[in-house]
Amino acid sequence: MNSDVFIRPLEIDDFPAFLEIQREALLQAPEVFGSDYDWFEGLSILSKEQKYEKYMNFPYQYLLGAVDGSGNILGMIGYSGQEQSKLKHKGRLWGLFVLQDSRGRGLATKLVSSILETARDILEVEQIQLSVSTRNDASYGLYLRLGFVVWGTEIRAMKIENSYVDEYVMVKFLV
Ligand SMILES: CC(C)(COP(=O)(O)OP(=O)(O)OC[C@H]1O[C@@H](n2cnc3c(N)ncnc32)[C@H](O)[C@@H]1OP(=O)(O)O)[C@@H](O)C(=O)NCCC(=O)NCCS
Repeated sequence: MNSDVFIRPLEIDDFPAFLEIQREALLQAPEVFGSDYDWFEGLSILSKEQKYEKYMNFPYQYLLGAVDGSGNILGMIGYSGQEQSKLKHKGRLWGLFVLQDSRGRGLATKLVSSILETARDILEVEQIQLSVSTRNDASYGLYLRLGFVVWGTEIRAMKIENSYVDEYVMVKFLV
């Protein structure tokens, strides 16, 4: 297998590889995503593809992948910008996930950094927001290191069966 990893927006042809990592992410890290495994698996392939296609709009709304030379997606993150003129100075990161075997190699750092650069340099976005579970030390630490600050806490942001997940809401100002 080619050991090079490319950081690039996912394309239509990456859909089968996306399904694999999405399944893994929903199983391994249910507190990270609003959608849950059973719901996602229950969707038809057409619905999954339609949802995926909404994120084929680089640099406004896209999925950024860390993709190896064989086309496997080792990590990914989502970006959603705003179209309305009063809101387009803001963007949002979501859904950061790196496969277990690929962790600790700087892939998450590269994915987040690339999103920040694109938002600032191409879209002239002024601030990036995100939410992270208050129990997720690894990603919380990563966001702090990359210059995000906490501006609030959403209590009971998610309910997973009978337990709640609180989330920090964080922002990084780019200008
Ligand atoms: C959080 C996550 C994305 C990090 O991915 P990664 O590619 O291993 O991250 P990096 O290699 O870029 O490491 C970033 C930093 O986090 C640290 N880190 C990574 N995993 C860690 C862990 N489990 N515990 C503590 N620190 C950790 C690294 O040491 C590194 O620190 P450094 O910059 O001081 O060297 C990955 O563990 C993951 O997918 N977790 C499950 C999903 C998740 O929590 N997503 C975030 C949702 S907000």
